[in-house]
Amino acid sequence: MKAITRFLKTALVLAVIVIGGAIAYAYSGYYDVSVGTGHNAVTHWYLSTLRYNSIKRRADELEVPPLDAEEMIRAGAVSYDQGCAGCHGRPGREPSDSFDPRPPALTRHAHDPAYTFWVVRNGIKMSAMPARGEDRMSDEQVWEVAAFLQDASRLTEGEYRQMVEPPPPPPEVEPVPESDEAEVTEDGDEDGDDPEAANDAQPTDPDQDEQPPADEDTDG
Ligand code: HEC
Repeated sequence: MKAITRFLKTALVLAVIVIGGAIAYAYSGYYDVSVGTGHNAVTHWYLSTLRYNSIKRRADELEVPPLDAEEMIRAGAVSYDQGCAGCHGRPGREPSDSFDPRPPALTRHAHDPAYTFWVVRNGIKMSAMPARGEDRMSDEQVWEVAAFLQDASRLTEGEYRQMVEPPPPPPEVEPVPESDEAEVTEDGDEDGDDPEAANDAQPTDPDQDEQPPADEDTDG
């Protein structure tokens, strides 16, 4: 009996020290919250295990629609490029390093679609991962992104670009890209030193020395 009382007393004193210490630490300001300082190995393991299992448990309850249609994957790629690539990177660009925890490079590995869907809908607490409600993305749009991320890791930068860039305009609308280009050169180029203008001038260029047809004429 005496031993038990003694044990309980010791446990109580220890608990007071640990809890008191933790509270004092919070008030002390010694903990560094700045981005890039990360966590120690134990905290990191604890938080990522907690996150993964929390998401998995909830995602497992979702009913996953068919996701293999080519148009669906394409639409998902476009949404990913507009709404996710700025943080998570894309083929040819690393994820942003402005956050801690850092956003993982989602186009580098395969992802379970239900897991992706749940994260996009609900976000992740105490991180930069935003929740996208139905007012911002319909279920269909979120599943499209999930379909794309199922296996985006095989894409090269060029293939990705091709998927997310709008299709080229039909041939009748040719003047449109030209006037776009003119705007760009106006901004960046004050002297009118336009490489295209140089190209246009080439046929009448007085510096042209070689004139094979003339030579042939004098020979024959
Ligand atoms: C403002 C930046 C930001 C945007 C925009 C963003 N995310 Fe995230 N996302 C994060 C961060 C940061 C994390 C890491 C959270 C963590 O580790 O706790 C994350 C985590 C995730 C995860 C969990 C990864 C894992 O292994 O558990 C998925 C899936 C995800 N994001 C998908 C998306 C998708 C899809 C979009 C676009 C619809 C998106 N995110 C938009 C910042 C962002």
